[in-house]
Amino acid sequence: MTKPRLSVIGTGYLGATHAVCMAELGFDVIGLDVDPVKVARLAAGEVPFFEPGLDDLLRKTLDSGRLRFTTSYDEIAEFADVHFLCVGTPQRKGEFAADMSYVDNAIEALAPRLTRPCVVAGKSTVPVGTAERLAAYLREHAPAGSDVELVWNPEFLREGYAVDDTMSPDRLVFGVTSPRGEEAMRAAFAPILDAGVPAVITDLATAQLVKVSANAFLATKISFINAMAEVCEAVHADVKKLSEALSYDTRIGGRFLHAGLGFGGGCLPKDIRAFMARAGELGVDQALSFLTEVDAINQRRRARMVDLARECVDGSFQGRQVGVLGAAFKPNSDDIRDSPALDVANRIRKAGALVTVYDPAALDNARRDYPDLAYAETALDAARDADIVLHLTEWREFRDMDPRVLDGVVREKSIVDGRNALDPDLWRAAGWRYRALGRP
Ligand code: UDX
Repeated sequence: MTKPRLSVIGTGYLGATHAVCMAELGFDVIGLDVDPVKVARLAAGEVPFFEPGLDDLLRKTLDSGRLRFTTSYDEIAEFADVHFLCVGTPQRKGEFAADMSYVDNAIEALAPRLTRPCVVAGKSTVPVGTAERLAAYLREHAPAGSDVELVWNPEFLREGYAVDDTMSPDRLVFGVTSPRGEEAMRAAFAPILDAGVPAVITDLATAQLVKVSANAFLATKISFINAMAEVCEAVHADVKKLSEALSYDTRIGGRFLHAGLGFGGGCLPKDIRAFMARAGELGVDQALSFLTEVDAINQRRRARMVDLARECVDGSFQGRQVGVLGAAFKPNSDDIRDSPALDVANRIRKAGALVTVYDPAALDNARRDYPDLAYAETALDAARDADIVLHLTEWREFRDMDPRVLDGVVREKSIVDGRNALDPDLWRAAGWRYRALGRP
């Protein structure tokens, strides 16, 4: 297999980025999605979500002729040597466990059409044991039988940096059961491996675990510093200085050590819960019981943010105007899945305030899922007549904002920085009351 032809099943944040980047690296790629609208938009050169740099690369790779999109499993089965499985595994409603229906549907659609030797490479984040189950299913249902090989190749891309994370990842992980599987992965990632990116070759179970344990570690690091913020609040210490001091210790490091409103998004929250659910099934729930606390610390930050904002409006939200800066779960994304910002905004609305939200990219998504909040097209309009302004997603636009531009529109010059990303001296010098989580 010198230069395999690739298919990418599922064209969400992960799959669309992977398909485009692999085409950019010189491979012939077909992206498949069951949603014909998504496929039509991608084929027309339009990325259906916000991801810096991806639009240009999509149009470039479509023009090159190396990338196309389809809804047809027949087409990809006929075409590809390696099929990347990139569908979502959201949290099941009312449960911790992951919803595996998209993964199962994809494999059930693909298997009976695999009549020639190929490799299926799982990228979706799955409960450990899924790969082994899918491999057995493929062996049984694919006409090519044992000529169909399943490998696991977890993905670590961050939204907002998805292109860079795909093109130059920190590492590649190949979970394989035979030399043929490893060779296929090495061929499919040759340009990245040639650039010196390390590859860890492992068994299927370990490969599946790398992904969830990476996310569990990151979530734990964030909740650790947010737990320190709780302690700081009790003794009027400054968590920002604390984390700065910790970050110089090379054993600890400063990344993912920013205290604030905590983590959200489509990965960290649901991945730690699915990991706990799976550990329970495996009889090792004690090993992961600390993740319950990681989750609880994270949820408490949202409640604390609401309390702090209430304190700043003299104890009651009734009839108050609240301006909210930020709706996305983090900057450089339009993703609002489990967004701490919208969760806080909505709790304050329910407590009686009129809440007006502005976000540079996520307004459409926010309007759809939180129709009871009010929305504004600019930061200035969100802050108009506000008794308090809440900074909940640290977009550059907000970090660079001159407090004086808001002076004329707000009712009270009072801001709570939920992300510890604004400069307190600057805001205070402009006559604002500045409060933040974990800081005096
Ligand atoms: C994450 C992982 O980083 C990525 O490797 C995996 O593949 C998918 O899940 P993503 O969900 O895009 O990526 O967001 P990430 O940048 O990790 O941020 C997650 C959340 O943590 C955000 O809500 C962010 O605001 C928050 N965060 C991050 C903090 O609160 N403090 C920090 O120090 C870092």
